[in-house]
Amino acid sequence: MSSRDVETEAARRRTFAVISHPDAGKSTLTEALALHAAAIGEAGAVHGKSGRRGVTSDWMEIERSRGISITSAVLRFEFGDALLNLLDTPGHADFSEDTYRVLAAVDAAIMLLDSAKGLEAQTLKLFDVCRARGVPVITFVNKWDRPGREPLELLDEVEQRIGLRPAPLNWPVGVAGDFRGLVDRATGDYTRYGRAPGGAGLATEEVVPAGRAAAEEGKAWQAAQEELALLDEIGADLDDAAFRSGSDTPVLFGAALPNFGVRALLETVRALAPAPSPRPGEDGTPRPVDAPFAGQVFKVQAGMDRAHRDRLAFIRVYSGKFERGMTLTHAPTGRPLVTKYAQTVFGRDRSTVDVAYPGDVIGLTNAAGLTVGDTLYARGPVVFPPIPAFAPEHFMVVRTRDNSKAKQFRKGIDQLDAEGAVQVLRSDLRGDQAPVLAAVGPLQFEVVAHRMEHEFNAPVEMNRLDYTVARRTDPDSAPALARLRGVEVLTRTLDGSLLAVFPDKWRLRAVEREHPDLTLVPLLAAG
Ligand code: G4P
Repeated sequence: MSSRDVETEAARRRTFAVISHPDAGKSTLTEALALHAAAIGEAGAVHGKSGRRGVTSDWMEIERSRGISITSAVLRFEFGDALLNLLDTPGHADFSEDTYRVLAAVDAAIMLLDSAKGLEAQTLKLFDVCRARGVPVITFVNKWDRPGREPLELLDEVEQRIGLRPAPLNWPVGVAGDFRGLVDRATGDYTRYGRAPGGAGLATEEVVPAGRAAAEEGKAWQAAQEELALLDEIGADLDDAAFRSGSDTPVLFGAALPNFGVRALLETVRALAPAPSPRPGEDGTPRPVDAPFAGQVFKVQAGMDRAHRDRLAFIRVYSGKFERGMTLTHAPTGRPLVTKYAQTVFGRDRSTVDVAYPGDVIGLTNAAGLTVGDTLYARGPVVFPPIPAFAPEHFMVVRTRDNSKAKQFRKGIDQLDAEGAVQVLRSDLRGDQAPVLAAVGPLQFEVVAHRMEHEFNAPVEMNRLDYTVARRTDPDSAPALARLRGVEVLTRTLDGSLLAVFPDKWRLRAVEREHPDLTLVPLLAAG
């Protein structure tokens, strides 16, 4: 395969995720996208919520009992000549670092808003990660088929609260709740939507000429035309470069459930979301997409499915062609890794992957020794920058409940640490028998407790620590910090870095004020 072919394959790929607050409609939108792209025959086939046929992984009882999806899957579908890789961000109010890490592996994100609610807490947190990583964001305002807010007000909120300049690509005719159709701002075409009989499946679409639309839609048409004129006047047009650099966001309106405006969203992803581009290594040199294979582990998951009790490392391909069976080098150790068991994961279903290109995600099974952030390459060397750890806000001391299980306890904790299921910290105060677990969301602890008992046969007890804020520090500052009231210094077992933890931000501020000489560096904020 020539490098030209790799370039062609890379150029048609779009690798993206949907960021939203729970209930904004991410699962519904995922179904609708897949339906349009003809990956799945009927709406309802993607989501694993109760009563629906699920392919989203449900590997644990916690997931089943709570009806949430903790693990993430990759959905891939063809849309015209484009190949779309949709990386699922596990959606739950109490989410974990996994959700953020997925955003390290995408080239664009769809920010999904509920038309009645606008920007919500989790959307904001995830948006912050996109901004920190320079991921361009396409905005989709969902649920336009039911009462909601004014479109101009929603645009204003996006601009005021997160500083993204909104550039609507289409505009709704009819207020939220009385939605008629969408005007494409570039062409002026009006598409009227109707519900498909029975609800499921594609909506009916009819392109209606302006003259007829004015007569048939009456006041709704008039209002939309006035707003469109206003948008033209204020110059709310998309600047492609500004979108790619993360200062503009194209905005589309629609409704995922009745399938309104979903095709326009797919077309926008195809036309605007960046294809995989040269990825800079740690030394700053971008690795061309047609260089020999290189990729990075962004997620490690064990026990994803009862039927597949194994460990799966998800790798985002950054350059070259991956061929199953090829021998790769594991950059951190220099060890060779044979890739006999490469897979794609489509929800619960897995299939063997023989080839993959930049933008794709491959799963390597039983990839012991692979840790989040590790680089793998066929010919190198290359090392991609580490995937940042997010600022933990919840801390627990964990101990084995059964002293005869000390070995299993250690093994389980080490494994969960390597996966990044939770951050494991060593504390001089408490010793190796009682490490501190640090998490972005408390659900992570439940997952740890469950897996320690059922997967590693080492039941644990946990006790909460009253810290909520962490800062990175260094060996020079650590002793002085450790002596301060209410402050503790912990060591991340994974990389030996030092974290100073504080009960709250007021205590942190006081320490910063009183000891300006001490090193206290913010971690990438999770919220
Ligand atoms: P999530 O994954 O973001 O948590 O959201 P999900 O797709 O599960 O959607 C949350 C609720 O919003 C669902 O209703 C879903 O049917 C509804 N919904 C999603 N998109 C639209 C839309 O465009 N229009 C309208 N009217 N509703 C939409 P539910 O009653 O909570 O769940 P279900 O019983 O219908 O599954």
